Amino acid sequence: MHNETDYSNERILFVDDEPNVLESFRRALRGRFSIFTALGGSAALEVFKSDGPFAVVVSDYKMPVMNGIELLSKVRRAYPDSIRMILTGYADLEMAIQAVNQGDIFRFLTKPCDSADLINAVKAGIEQFRMTNAARELVGVRRIKDGLEGTLRAFTRLVEFRDPYTAGHMDRVAEISALIATRLGLDSDKIQGLHLAALVHDIGKVAVPAGILNKPGSLSEAEFSIIKAHPLVGAEIFQTLETDWPITTIIEQHHERMDGSGYPHGLYEDEILQESKIIAVADIIDAVLTNRPYRPTLGKEEAMKILENEKGRLLDSASVDAGIGLIREGLILGDTFT
Ligand SMILES: [Fe+2]
Ligand SMILES: [Fe+2]
Repeated sequence: MHNETDYSNERILFVDDEPNVLESFRRALRGRFSIFTALGGSAALEVFKSDGPFAVVVSDYKMPVMNGIELLSKVRRAYPDSIRMILTGYADLEMAIQAVNQGDIFRFLTKPCDSADLINAVKAGIEQFRMTNAARELVGVRRIKDGLEGTLRAFTRLVEFRDPYTAGHMDRVAEISALIATRLGLDSDKIQGLHLAALVHDIGKVAVPAGILNKPGSLSEAEFSIIKAHPLVGAEIFQTLETDWPITTIIEQHHERMDGSGYPHGLYEDEILQESKIIAVADIIDAVLTNRPYRPTLGKEEAMKILENEKGRLLDSASVDAGIGLIREGLILGDTFT
């Protein structure tokens, strides 16, 4: 087993409209983290100014004047690095799932919350904060066009420690996307931007707890909504990236679908970037063609059948045709990838 990681210097802010609740948080977490409290949303924003930055901010949902979601979306805009969590009663669960979905919060805790759950959630938040920060620092390292590929590949390596499948998947999807784009006749500058975005398109999965990522069997609605936040988390990680390529938008839109049934925004056809439409096709090709721990590859015929079936409805027709052509000609190798 690992040694206990030391979190005692990490600054955590609790926000509630009841002093007693804040006091109980202080008592439960004393010594483990560096705890700050604020009585209500406006006070929280003041505390951010005087004592921030915070690794994690945990807010109650039901508060007068400014509720927890309103507070956390303000925090998100002003201090995007802070990991945001919300405490909610069972009755507001629907709202909480919605908020996770929109990328506004990292996790929600249901009331009453015992201290073990609270401590675990705060620790997960700190880990997330550290990982996002490490990733951001990588962005700061190289901002010039030529160095971008090396920088983005470093992110893939970062993910690889925790989630080797996703790391390999992003590499393969980048190659397949570039092949499709070439066949569609996109200009080389656009292909370069697409390739870079594809290399990190699922980077937002760093925010998905490992237990959900590797869970066999089906996911609950709440778990799925956490996974569905990954395009937004990915876009957020790269928001400081200075480049003329629309890398953050490509990442943000890679699960949008032509008929508006995708996420996170439910965009339609022309509202979706061509690069994202291409990644969507490459994503499916790779998922179907690779061997997974729980099942072998479904094979090329199945891949072409799925693409044909979703063509024009969920997936961009031209990209599908290009993808099918590549598979048929043996240019995408599938099961030999892994
Ligand atoms: Fe994805
Ligand atoms: Fe993907």
